[in-house]
Amino acid sequence: MKNGNYDVKDIKLADKGMLKVEWAAKDMPVLQGIKERFQKEKPLKGVKLAACLHVTTETANLMDTLKAGGADVRLCASNPLSTQDDVAAAIVKHIGVPTYAIKGEDNKTYYKHIEQALSAKPNITMDDGADLVSTIHKNGKQLLNGIMGGTEETTTGVIRLRAMAEKGVLNYPIIAVNDAYTKYMFDNRYGTGQSTIDGLMRATNRLIAGSVFVIAGYGWCGKGVAMRARGLGAKVVVTEVDPLRALEATMDGLAVMTMKEAAPIGDFFVSVTGDINVIAEASFMKMKDGAVVANSGHFNVEIDIPALRKLAKSTRKIREFVDEYALKDGRRIYLLGEGRLINLAAAEGHPSQVMDMSFANQALCAEFMAKNYKKMEKRVYSVPQDIDKKIAVLKLQAMGIKIDRLTPEQQKYLQSWEMGT
Ligand code: ADE
Repeated sequence: MKNGNYDVKDIKLADKGMLKVEWAAKDMPVLQGIKERFQKEKPLKGVKLAACLHVTTETANLMDTLKAGGADVRLCASNPLSTQDDVAAAIVKHIGVPTYAIKGEDNKTYYKHIEQALSAKPNITMDDGADLVSTIHKNGKQLLNGIMGGTEETTTGVIRLRAMAEKGVLNYPIIAVNDAYTKYMFDNRYGTGQSTIDGLMRATNRLIAGSVFVIAGYGWCGKGVAMRARGLGAKVVVTEVDPLRALEATMDGLAVMTMKEAAPIGDFFVSVTGDINVIAEASFMKMKDGAVVANSGHFNVEIDIPALRKLAKSTRKIREFVDEYALKDGRRIYLLGEGRLINLAAAEGHPSQVMDMSFANQALCAEFMAKNYKKMEKRVYSVPQDIDKKIAVLKLQAMGIKIDRLTPEQQKYLQSWEMGT
């Protein structure tokens, strides 16, 4: 591939990156099965696809699968700090997908990379956070003509896209991969649960046992983080705005309180809400000396970093992904990974076993879109149920787990209403 066809940190890292891509592939049997079928059937032949995803070993395997299906693919990062540079090089050199992603890229480069991924005039967009869709709708309306549709990986992106559809400004159909059971129940819960704690531990090397661990948001991601923090011996506190989720956290045995109450007692704070300024000035004013603050939501807006900067008399980098903010009253607050998603900034994102299902959904939804786009409207669709179910069946098979079947008698009973006690 020519030099101008990619922008990665160092192409010489490719062989090192490819070993990691192969390591991940072993734990992605569902995606591998799809790749084998795609190789034979070529369902994406002639389709140009732009992907804006976290550039990880799992994404590399998805790129390989889409290419096997005949797609002409380009990839850019969906976050400036989540790229694995050796993997980006491997995707270019060994998988043959033009890739535009460098860990730590500034905002200008981030958006330039999005433009480069879009420059091939894609038919399908594959997003994690809706940046391709929003860039096309803001600056690339000339691309709309050639677009069949798109897919969206994450909760935050789906929220943005639903808002666009409701306002009547969404110009092509989207499949919300995030909303498949085989995505959010596993990726959001077990993936975010494990990888957030992994990022926190790699960044700080601090003991979690015995700490007060405050989690803002008790959606699927928050539930996963809470489960793992509790497993490591933390006293978990949940803050919520949704009464049902607050009740759920309470009955899961967790302490539920307001952020105002949690601020002075927390040792660790993790925000996973998808909303803005969840940990803000009033909380910083109350935190203990040494409090650690991290975000695991998609965008770096959950922690009010400008407010923290204003409160600080000095800042310094203590170790990789740990910035110290020394406040005027002498307290120190530690911000991890510049407030970007800590699981991908300081660790490697979700493990391959869960991304296997998330990316199987992506591959099958791209295939579905290529086949059905002419019948689809300009709105956000759920993942077709048969795709979701098929992925669950394939994952169980790959894990060697058998399940029971309903007997004809049981089936009949479930369809009838006459029989009682
Ligand atoms: N999002 C969270 N974890 C990820 C991973 N390992 N690869 C791609 N996207 C992710």
